[in-house]
Amino acid sequence: MSEDGESAGELEARLPDGETFEPPASFVEQANVSDEGIYEAFEEDWPACWERAADLLDWDDDYDTVLNDSDAPFYEWFTGGSLNASYNCVDRHVEAGRGDEAAIEWVGELGETRTYTYDDLHREVNEFAAALRELGVAEDDVVTLYMPMIPELPVAMLACARIGAPHSVVFAGFSADALATRMESADSEYLVTCDGYYRRGDVLPHKEKADEGLASVGHDVTTIVADRTGEEYDHPMADGEHDFDELLAAHEGATVEPVQRDAEDMLFLMYTSGTTGKPKGVKHTTGGYLSYVSWTAHAVLDIKPEDTYWCSADIGWITGHSYIVYGPLALGTTSVMYEGTPDYPEKDRLWEIVEDYDVTQLYTAPTAIRAFMKWGAEYPNRHDLSSLRLLGTVGEPINPRAWKWYYKHIGDESCPVVDTWWQTETGGMMITTLPGVGEMKPGSAGPPLPGISANVLDQSGDPVDPGEAGYLTVDKPWPGMLRTLYRNDERFVEEYWREYSDPEDDEWVYFPEDGAKLDEDGYITVLGRVDDVINVSGHRLGTMELESAIVGVEGVAEAAVVGGDHDIKGEAVYAYVITEDGHEGDEALRERIVTGVEDAIGPIARPEDVIFTPELPKTRSGKIMRRLLEDIANGDELGNTNTLRNPEIVDDIAGKVGGD
Ligand code: PRX
Repeated sequence: MSEDGESAGELEARLPDGETFEPPASFVEQANVSDEGIYEAFEEDWPACWERAADLLDWDDDYDTVLNDSDAPFYEWFTGGSLNASYNCVDRHVEAGRGDEAAIEWVGELGETRTYTYDDLHREVNEFAAALRELGVAEDDVVTLYMPMIPELPVAMLACARIGAPHSVVFAGFSADALATRMESADSEYLVTCDGYYRRGDVLPHKEKADEGLASVGHDVTTIVADRTGEEYDHPMADGEHDFDELLAAHEGATVEPVQRDAEDMLFLMYTSGTTGKPKGVKHTTGGYLSYVSWTAHAVLDIKPEDTYWCSADIGWITGHSYIVYGPLALGTTSVMYEGTPDYPEKDRLWEIVEDYDVTQLYTAPTAIRAFMKWGAEYPNRHDLSSLRLLGTVGEPINPRAWKWYYKHIGDESCPVVDTWWQTETGGMMITTLPGVGEMKPGSAGPPLPGISANVLDQSGDPVDPGEAGYLTVDKPWPGMLRTLYRNDERFVEEYWREYSDPEDDEWVYFPEDGAKLDEDGYITVLGRVDDVINVSGHRLGTMELESAIVGVEGVAEAAVVGGDHDIKGEAVYAYVITEDGHEGDEALRERIVTGVEDAIGPIARPEDVIFTPELPKTRSGKIMRRLLEDIANGDELGNTNTLRNPEIVDDIAGKVGGD
């Protein structure tokens, strides 16, 4: 929760209006899940119901216990079982005679395309796994993948999974500093990166950024570099660094037996932002995670092997891990992977791809939908989108207007829209309608999925009445849940299991730090974060991380960062800054602050506005009143200033926003 707390009334202000839509009959007829009884069936059979998820996979050894809760909240799923994720995502489809079907359809920003059949994927994953082994990667070594949306990224992920080496993918848009912090934190001695990649036609010199990051990693690192740009960018290569393609060539035709991993063995680490400055290393496991993403991809995204499914997220985030790579490939479908941005070379790029590939499901983010809406229906109207059967959104609350625009202009009112609430920590979707079962309410994600027990509570832990805002909680474990924060069990318990649990009674309640409301039908509307995390275009940024980047800039004495409303991005970063004596709050300092944030985190964190002020509004106990700063950023009526130590500063700051 934010330190100055958000009142129920303030949460209420975020609520949407109501209207409902039935799932189209044509969809229901063919849906993977269309039986309403599934909710009850899961409840009656809990936790054994989760065997249905595990049954979607091939296990080397059967598990003997579905859920082991003897050491809660350190739950274990499918204990005693063993499996390999790369085998499940690749080999078994080849063995089933589907090796010549497309696994990945890659579309480069410049318009080039590459198709990886399951046979191709099998070959490259094996060759790269052999190369990693030869370079010394052993089981349980963390391999960092700092790569953009190129096919070598899923190949590397699956190769790591094959040899039991957890990967830690760092979003390519993150800065050199962010890479270094994550490599240090995971003691990762291996890095796979690439020379460069394209953004709106320009080459971004990615290898230089990786090198800059490596310079501040305190241990030796073995580096592999994939070649994306060919001759166009002559990237630096140090002695001892390896070229991705040369490694494949050197291991041509090699096969590597998939390592049997215990269900609870780590599949990957994914760093995400939290309330405190340091990113959290979220640990996901092999059996529970893979079962859960396969099940949700089956039940919610309605994926079938013959589909051409497209999730437009970046693999550098959890959405891409779960729903570009692991879920879809475990189900043996064709997963589309697009390198570029939606408006290059033209604003119809996505629709062109949907038409060219006959895409059947599209899973994207509200921020993208709001941009499409702003550009206008003429762009999708240029294309035949009739192949689409289902639409999905994720990452932030979707406003009903954007939902309806998506439903109408992209789905032609014949595709269900699934608004899926989940988090890096949950591994997969948690709250959404089942597209073949439930009616849709724009703006409300829907009921918790079968087997998921989510509630909305007030501050003292009692359920709120329907229609009232409170805090989202989950009071039963689920297979895709994070198991811990890497090497920090204490912080894991502290961050997620303190607020609403009763350890004395061994009652554990997961707190995702989101505000929500529940309606009479059990539908949950997620209202957004209630901690000090900002959600910019569906990307989580910690205010502490941002503030420490800003106070690291010469001339800055103190900073407070809040999220303000933004038409497209959902939220944007607003920075309130006190300068050091002798420094002016001028354009030059503003520029240095923006650059400082980009260097520390990446361009996604770029402040929308930097507001210089002689003081920050503080409570008598010295805490910054962020909520007030948010009101100022949004141009809203200001909340109560009675508890402030320095109320006079508020009008002064408000006068500067948008002007100055
Ligand atoms: O605040 C919620 C918001 O995104 C947060 C999780 O961010 P991250 O771990 O980066 O994962 C994003 C992709 C799964 C949540 O705590 N969020 C995500 N999906 C929704 C959402 N808010 C409202 N509605 C959603 N569908």
